[in-house]
Amino acid sequence: MKTLVTGGAGFIGSNFVRHLARTHPDWPIVVLDKLTYAGRRENLQDLEGHPGFEFVQGDITDPQAVARTMDGCAYVVNFAAETHVDRSLYDAGSFIHTDVHGTFVLLEEARRSRTLRTFVQISTDEVYGSVPTGSSRETDPLMPRNPYSASKAGADRLAYSYWATYGLPVLVTRASNNYGSHQFPEKIIPLFVTHAIDDIPVPLYGDGLNVRDWLHVDDHCRAVEMLLTQGAPGETYNVGGGNEVPNIELTKRILALVGKPESLIQPVTDRMGHDRRYSLDCSKLRAMGWSPQVPFERGLAETVEWYRAHPEWWRPLKEANPAFREHYQRHYRG
Ligand code: NAD
Ligand code: TYD
Repeated sequence: MKTLVTGGAGFIGSNFVRHLARTHPDWPIVVLDKLTYAGRRENLQDLEGHPGFEFVQGDITDPQAVARTMDGCAYVVNFAAETHVDRSLYDAGSFIHTDVHGTFVLLEEARRSRTLRTFVQISTDEVYGSVPTGSSRETDPLMPRNPYSASKAGADRLAYSYWATYGLPVLVTRASNNYGSHQFPEKIIPLFVTHAIDDIPVPLYGDGLNVRDWLHVDDHCRAVEMLLTQGAPGETYNVGGGNEVPNIELTKRILALVGKPESLIQPVTDRMGHDRRYSLDCSKLRAMGWSPQVPFERGLAETVEWYRAHPEWWRPLKEANPAFREHYQRHYRG
């Protein structure tokens, strides 16, 4: 049951590889990752020596790298993507290239495979666009509103089209905002936790009332693992944490956990096209026996502790990494 995990050196991908190595120690795992600013080889450090584990630095838009790594695989999970909404506001091209074209290259190679059982396209709740009331179901129309979510929507439907057109065993997951260890410190939770540790003001967009549904990365990994063998080709599955929290409340909780005053909150200009709220109806996945296991209070406290205990992981990313500094300068100080 050889499994190709693209983007396996990133936040969710590396947690998923660790999860799979634990739950299926006999499955060979190949990671294909370009190691962009967001991918870290050291995120997979504990996999060194794991039998059947292979890391390949390469690009999902490169057909040769994809052919080599997909060879003999039963499962493919495509996590590889440009993922930060704020970056997509300045550089939509790289999102279209990796998220849409890269997915196309993977699907084309999957069509040639004789061993493939399931191809999981990791999509996002952001493809539904902003949801003022109620919760999105898998059959709802897609209304992405920024270049990141529009690129993800393109890949999401392209993957579906390969099932509808060619009968490729593709399924799509749409997860809500993930949190946990190894998340690059540009997304709200790791950015605010690490800023707070250093007494740097945390830049809260707009009125702080935008709502995100927080899903612990371990709960996401369990859902994807289950769907590899139990998901139905051609189907889409929402994966939500059931923790809808306005950003201002999340920020106050983070500051309390780090032990810093609320005066560190710095209201800043709102994000362009900022989606107000995401919300998922997960009854389809719940009917298959999955439900989130990590209570938000515990998960958030453990995540704060992880960042507190691992400054050697995030400090170089924030302080010595031009990719972080340039984005920060352009976006927050520009
Ligand atoms: P991340 O930015 O931490 O990691 C992305 C990984 O993809 C990195 O390791 C990067 O090096 C790699 N990558 C980028 N371009 C590549 C390319 N062209 N070829 C090969 N590898 C490449 O992202 P993440 O938060 O772990 O997200 C993983 C996936 O889950 C993405 O598809 C994202 O859209 C989706 N998702 C994320 C969330 C979330 O809250 N983080 C929620 C729902 C869905
Ligand atoms: P983010 O972590 O970038 O994830 P996404 O945009 O994919 O949901 O942002 C989560 C929420 O936090 C979103 O409503 C934007 C807000 N936010 C801030 O208020 N300040 C920040 O500096 C960042 C990065 C995000």
